[in-house]
Amino acid sequence: MTQSRTTPLVELVDISVPDQATGHLAEPRVARLRDAVLALAPRADQEEFSGRARDTLPVADQDPYRSPFAIVCDGDAAGFGVLDVQGYPDELAAVDAGHASPSGPVPVVLLRAFYVGVAWQGRGIGGAAIRALPEAARKALPGARALALTVNVRNTGATAAYLACGFADTGRLYLGGDAGPQHVLRWALD
Ligand SMILES: CC(C)(COP(=O)(O)OP(=O)(O)OC[C@H]1O[C@@H](n2cnc3c(N)ncnc32)[C@H](O)[C@@H]1OP(=O)(O)O)[C@@H](O)C(=O)NCCC(=O)NCCS
Repeated sequence: MTQSRTTPLVELVDISVPDQATGHLAEPRVARLRDAVLALAPRADQEEFSGRARDTLPVADQDPYRSPFAIVCDGDAAGFGVLDVQGYPDELAAVDAGHASPSGPVPVVLLRAFYVGVAWQGRGIGGAAIRALPEAARKALPGARALALTVNVRNTGATAAYLACGFADTGRLYLGGDAGPQHVLRWALD
């Protein structure tokens, strides 16, 4: 008999630091999760696709448009990602080429640096986190029309996970990445 896997309860917790300029301290839970994600890494061969929080969290901290989040499962940090609400970087120009309005490009949230820590992979956590992303994107950018991401064409595992959990393939390729062509995936929010 095949056992059906129970979906783990997963929460996406914003771990932005309130005010970098004043050095304002994060609340204790956020501070603890920030420490915990710094210790999380994907598999070594996956790192070229997502990076790891040790490198990508400091970059997000310096960018007012980027909100880093922890994927929290049973109170523990199991993964990491960043929601980028900045207007229209190159990646997104391709995504919404067919969706621009006369008043300009539509607001889109870009998912960056997303991964589940190697010890947590394969348990349904990534899938649950992906399904929770639209709500987090709407919070990050009220009025957003879509959530988008680019995923390397060699990264078949993550591509399968994104498509299985709700993203649609736009059929476009983003060619500007360092590691080769990337599929552009999109989740409509309207
Ligand atoms: C992609 C990733 C987030 C998936 O997380 P995970 O916790 O291992 O995934 P889950 O166990 O929740 O599986 C989610 C779904 O994806 C599918 N999936 C996961 N890995 C897969 C693989 N290697 N090949 C095919 N399908 C896969 C699962 O079958 C599952 O589908 P289902 O819900 O229909 O059963 C994780 O593998 C990861 O962190 N990869 C490295 C970083 C990365 O590539 N990030 C993307 C950058 S764009």
